[in-house]
Amino acid sequence: MHMNEGFCKENIKLPTIRCTVWQGWILVTLNPDAPEPAEQLKEVENLVGYLDMGSYGETFREEHRWATNWKVLAENFMESYHLPVCHSGTIGGFVSLEKMTCPEGYDAFNYHWILKKDDAPLTVAHPLNTTLVGEERVKTWLISIYPALMITLTPGYFWYLSLHPDGAGHVKILYGGGLHADYVNDPEAQDHFKALKTLLDAVNDEDRGCTEKVYKGLLGRLSEPGALSHLERPNYEFARYISGKVGG
Ligand SMILES: [Fe+2]
Repeated sequence: MHMNEGFCKENIKLPTIRCTVWQGWILVTLNPDAPEPAEQLKEVENLVGYLDMGSYGETFREEHRWATNWKVLAENFMESYHLPVCHSGTIGGFVSLEKMTCPEGYDAFNYHWILKKDDAPLTVAHPLNTTLVGEERVKTWLISIYPALMITLTPGYFWYLSLHPDGAGHVKILYGGGLHADYVNDPEAQDHFKALKTLLDAVNDEDRGCTEKVYKGLLGRLSEPGALSHLERPNYEFARYISGKVGG
């Protein structure tokens, strides 16, 4: 290249991609004009900052591919109305529809929370934890960051789904999670890891069954939109977000 007088090595490089660490998450965008996550998602910090999301340790991360549309899976995550039925074999018995709160969402995310029974395994604050008080000890947050990062945050663990559409009929999923530091530092940490992973895998299998069937149903000739419950407020928020993005 020394014969090419116009060549300047400093100007030739791979594209620079924006990458920001926010609350322990590595967020990447190809959009140079996207707002800073700390600005766009500041309400998330206001809501769950007391749990210090970035301090949780990720203990597993896997890739999956399901035969459903990504929006069906996102919508499934956003409502906990399905828990007692779809998850009757796992966590359904530890939740009550009366203990779910679904407030209005924000431009960049929606959320709801569930107050869990205080004997729910791992979901509640560690018995030796003295910093979380009252409802904080039993409150599970479900946060859907648009378009496709779904986070469940409890005082004991977190898990997430990062959705990547793969055509209309499939979605690739980055699925991971881990424990709060209190459980990681517990002498019985290994048992906690095992119990958590077994539980979350079983919950995910149940969701896979539900969302793949819902997608099949959506393709049916007789399929029509239905009414929403107040426990599906986040679904309404998500529909408005999608509608805004596609000019609807
Ligand atoms: Fe579910």
